[in-house]
Amino acid sequence: MTQRVALVTGAMGGIGTAICQELSRAGYKMVAAYHPQFDNKDQWLQEMTAAGFKAQDFVCVAGDVSLLEDCQRMVAEAEAACGQVDILINNAGITRDRMFAKMEREGWDAVISTNLTSLFNMSKQVSAKMAGRGWGRIINISSVNGVKGQAGQTNYSAAKAGIIGFTKALAAELASKGVTVNAIAPGYVATKMVMAIKPEILQTIVDSVPMKRLAKPEEIGYACAFLANDMSGFTTGATLNINGGLYYQ
Ligand code: CAA
Ligand code: NAP
Repeated sequence: MTQRVALVTGAMGGIGTAICQELSRAGYKMVAAYHPQFDNKDQWLQEMTAAGFKAQDFVCVAGDVSLLEDCQRMVAEAEAACGQVDILINNAGITRDRMFAKMEREGWDAVISTNLTSLFNMSKQVSAKMAGRGWGRIINISSVNGVKGQAGQTNYSAAKAGIIGFTKALAAELASKGVTVNAIAPGYVATKMVMAIKPEILQTIVDSVPMKRLAKPEEIGYACAFLANDMSGFTTGATLNINGGLYYQ
C-alpha cells in the first residue's frame, strides 16, 4: 500500500509538534502546515531531527488558515510534493481571552476565523477528493472549553463548540464514503497557549482537574494516531474528551 499522507495545521506549535511526531512514528508521510509569520521553521526541523526524526520526512507549507486562498495554496503544495492528502488534522488555533463585557469585535473575529472558519477553508480542499477515493480522515481539535464553556472565553468556547457541530454534520455527509470526521476535546495541555494564563489562575485550574496535572501534548498526538488508524473506520462524528476527568458530557 502507498504511504498515506497526513497534513497537520499549527504543526509547529505544542500539540501540533506532538501530532507530527506520533503520526510520523505511525508511518505516515507528514505535511507540516505552519503560520507564515513563524520564523523558526528551520529550528523546528532541527528539533525534530534531534528527537530522532528525519527532516526530509516533513514537507513544510506556510499559510494562514483563516484565509481560504492560503489553504488552497497549502494543499496544492502538499499535493505537488507528496500526492493527495489522506488525513487532515485541523489543529491551528489561538486564544484572545477577555471577559465578554470587555471583549472587542476584533478578538471575537480573530478567534472565530482562526479556530472555526479555518475548518471550512481546509476541509473544503480535501473532503470531496477523499470521498472520491473512498478513504479519508478529518480530525478536528476542539477543547473542553467548547464542551463546558469557560468564563473569559465566549469567543473561544463558541468556536470550539462550533467545531463539534461541524464535525457531526460533515461526519453525517461523508459516512457512506469511507471518510470519518471526528473531534478531540483536550483539557488543559502543557503548551505555550496555557502558559499564557496568569500563574495564579492556572494553579486554580490545575487544582480543579481530578488528575491534578496538565495533559502532555503526546497524549493528544496519540489520540490522533488512534483516530487516523484503519481500525477506527467505524468511529465517526465522535468527540473524544481527553481532560484528566475535568468534565464529561
Ligand atoms: N467565573 C466567573 N467569573 C469570573 C471567573 C470565572 N472563572 N474568573 C473571573 N471572574 C470574574 C471576576 O470575579 C471579576 O468579577 P468582578 O469584576 O465582579 O470583580 C471579573 O470576572 C473579571 O475577572 P478578572 O479580574 O480575572 O479579569 P481580567 O480582565 O484580569 O482577566 C481573563 C480575564 C483574562 C479572562 C482571566 O480571567 C483568565 O485568564 N481566565 C482564564 C481563562 C481560561 O481558562 N483560558 C484558557 C486558556 S488556554 C485554552 O483555552 C486551551 C484550552 O482549550 C483548554
Ligand atoms: P500553540 O502551541 O500556540 O499552537 C498553535 C499553533 O497554531 C501555532 O503553531 C500557531 O502558529 C498556529 N496558528 C495560529 N494561528 C494560525 C493561523 N491563522 N494560521 C496558521 N497557523 C496558525 O497551542 P497548542 O496548545 O498547541 O494548540 C493547538 C490546538 O489545540 C489549538 O486549536 C488549541 O485551541 C487546541 N487546544 C489546546 C489546549 C491546550 O490546553 N493547550 C487545550 C484544548 C485545545 P504561530 O504560533 O506561529 O502563530
